[in-house]
Amino acid sequence: MKNIEVRGLTHVYSRGTPFEKTAIDSLDLAIQAGMTVGLIGHTGSGKSTLISHLNALLKPTAGTVLLDGEDIFASKAAIRAARFRVGVVFQYPEYQLFEETVFADIAYGPKNLKLDKSEIDRRVRQAAAFVGLDEGYFDRSPLELSGGQKRRTAIAGVLAMEPELLVLDEPTAGLDPAGRADLLEKLFAWKRARNATVLLVTHDMTIAGLCDRLVVMEAGRIVLDGTPAEVFAQSGKLLSIGLDLPPAAHIARLLREKGLDVPAGIYTEDQLYEAVLALWQGKGGVPC
Ligand SMILES: Nc1ncnc2c1ncn2[C@@H]1O[C@H](COP(=O)(O)OP(=O)(O)OP(=O)(O)O)[C@@H](O)[C@H]1O
Ligand SMILES: [Mg+2]
Repeated sequence: MKNIEVRGLTHVYSRGTPFEKTAIDSLDLAIQAGMTVGLIGHTGSGKSTLISHLNALLKPTAGTVLLDGEDIFASKAAIRAARFRVGVVFQYPEYQLFEETVFADIAYGPKNLKLDKSEIDRRVRQAAAFVGLDEGYFDRSPLELSGGQKRRTAIAGVLAMEPELLVLDEPTAGLDPAGRADLLEKLFAWKRARNATVLLVTHDMTIAGLCDRLVVMEAGRIVLDGTPAEVFAQSGKLLSIGLDLPPAAHIARLLREKGLDVPAGIYTEDQLYEAVLALWQGKGGVPC
């Protein structure tokens, strides 16, 4: 896949009623294949609405979505193709498990692709392995699983479709820190193994810092777009729209406010360490 492109996308909910709400407002976005893009924004900024258009689950009020230059809403066949090529893991996907067994739940998507039984079997096993779900769970009901295992089952169901673009809406929300780190590591390993494109919606700025590019939304529009260093350098803007900073960026900002010469693009602990070390060594003008 070359890329996915959103052109002039507008989505208005409940049009013509007193509850009318423009959730996405003439938005343009192009994502290069192979990139990991983080989508961040305050609650209600339109992130989930935007991603629901990428696999044609929501229809635009205006504008469109192009996959390799082809309009995904052009025909029923194009919509169907987009559903297979773009895998979306929605917020709290574990509430959408409905089959009798874990295996059947993961196999649901590949079955819809009308793959043969051995290919379905291969994909289910591979997807389960990717998310770290033991095959011992395959015959169990999803309802018997822990919260973390349910989440892994739901994500495996999307990975088993082998999407070219994987979209994840807050995949680590509600997990404990160890579960969060483990799931992220597995998702990044999947991305590397398949050379897929990933769009990751997150409120966690440390996770956002792991992406190649960050897109920041506010009130249905993109207000910042760049590398994590470029975006986190705009700390005042991020704070003004109700977003957090990664801990290292926050400390760097406080040091700058105290008049210390700490660069604006710092967002990792290593970068902060280097900057503070430079200060102590007198390079930044601070007496030792
Ligand atoms: N089904 C709906 N009907 C009417 N308005 C909606 C609907 N879904 C979302 N909205 C509104 O559209 C706007 C964007 O919502 P959306 O869920 O896309 O935001 P979000 O950035 O994903 O927020 P969060 O971080 O809380 O998940 C919000 O004002 C929301 O209240
Ligand atoms: Mg959302």
